[in-house]
Amino acid sequence: MELRVADHPLIAHKLTVLRDERTDSARFRQLTDELVMLLAYEATRCVRVKDTRITTPVGPITGVAMSAPRPVVVPILRAGLGMLEGMMKILPTAEVGFLGMIRDEETLEAHAYAERLPADLTGRQVFVIDPMLATGGTLAMAIEFLLARGASEVTAVCLVSAPEGVEHLRAQFDGRAEVTVHTAALDERLNENGYIVPGLGDAGDRLYG
Ligand code: PRP
Repeated sequence: MELRVADHPLIAHKLTVLRDERTDSARFRQLTDELVMLLAYEATRCVRVKDTRITTPVGPITGVAMSAPRPVVVPILRAGLGMLEGMMKILPTAEVGFLGMIRDEETLEAHAYAERLPADLTGRQVFVIDPMLATGGTLAMAIEFLLARGASEVTAVCLVSAPEGVEHLRAQFDGRAEVTVHTAALDERLNENGYIVPGLGDAGDRLYG
């Protein structure tokens, strides 16, 4: 598994405003959208393309076109939905699948409650989007599920991650080069309630609460 932590002043700036407790839902959604587009630029570097011959008004050129099959974007409901629009601006032809998952507030264990994915993901590049990587239970279960369905590569895009969650994923996907995690920030730790510190609070509530 590979971890990529963003290093870009615009990402750092937007993330700072996103974290601020004074930022309201409307601004939070807009910033999430902007951050996802910046992260997606790097996260989609692996997207497969093939040569294609076209003609401009001036003459012929060999360009590139995205290869089939189309990539799949999978938001983890509910908070991941806030990242879907930004991701689709970068990958407008992607297919979209949905995973509904919730973390038990007491045990911090992840539970899947909904799934609407393409039936066969064999050979597909999948981009999973979820703003928070806390204990890593949710993302680990999601990635496992997508690989079991045949996905050839799974790239997760997160906004804020905790070292504990990254370790969880590293342990579970050790040696799996097809798993990559992109995050805008790697924070300090988890607190006793399983919240990322300093984090940004509950992303689902701040987006939709
Ligand atoms: C949050 C977040 C992740 C998960 C991270 O979702 O969006 O999906 O928790 O926690 P973990 O790494 O410890 O598993 P939540 O369960 O709050 O659901 P929501 O998106 O519906 O608010």
